Amino acid sequence: MINVLKSYNELSSTVANIIKRQLKKHPLSKLGLPTGDTPLGMYSKLIKKELDWKHVITFNLDVYLMDVDHPQSYQMYMRGNLFDRTNIYPDHTHFPFRPTSAFEDKITESMGIDLCILGIGSNGHIAFNEPGSSFKSRTRVVTLSEQTIQDNSRFFGSVDDTPKQAITMGLGTIMESKKIILIANGDHKLNILNVAMNGEVTEDVPASILQKHDNVEVYYCD
Ligand code: PGA
Repeated sequence: MINVLKSYNELSSTVANIIKRQLKKHPLSKLGLPTGDTPLGMYSKLIKKELDWKHVITFNLDVYLMDVDHPQSYQMYMRGNLFDRTNIYPDHTHFPFRPTSAFEDKITESMGIDLCILGIGSNGHIAFNEPGSSFKSRTRVVTLSEQTIQDNSRFFGSVDDTPKQAITMGLGTIMESKKIILIANGDHKLNILNVAMNGEVTEDVPASILQKHDNVEVYYCD
């Protein structure tokens, strides 16, 4: 079911409060975290909550294959929007890396992700699992679709300057999270959200795999 919220502010508060409750109840939580435009409000609410992140471990969903010091890298995004503004230990923050099996091992060693927050791409991707990705996929290097490169070029000024490759958690990896929250903002996401949540479960729409997870909540605002 898609929970429709009145505003982006409400969407951001709702999800920030879910994370707050998670960290209060389980200070040793392992979180799966997204980047992009949609979670910005959620992060900005979260850093005002003065939570204790000392024992929290995070796994980001994906990274571009690019210089990590580039202002648009997801590592910089996470430092600027969350990590540098909490007391989380930098060593507890993980981004997909090569060999990708070692990243998977880190998740396994930490006993798995408790709460994973996801956005959805306009083509139905979650993390950078583009249409056609296997439902069994694990963390791996991927080539971004034309649509995703086009969508993300707004951050880089041009399609030419937009990274074409990334490392992403796989769909199989994401589905092992104990709880999943999917967030989407804007009416340009409504159609794909409906297709993913209410349509056929198919690898052509990667987010549709979430229909098979028994602990998913979906929040949308236009
Ligand atoms: P957005 O990206 O939040 O910037 O729209 C979502 C996604 O592509 O997963």
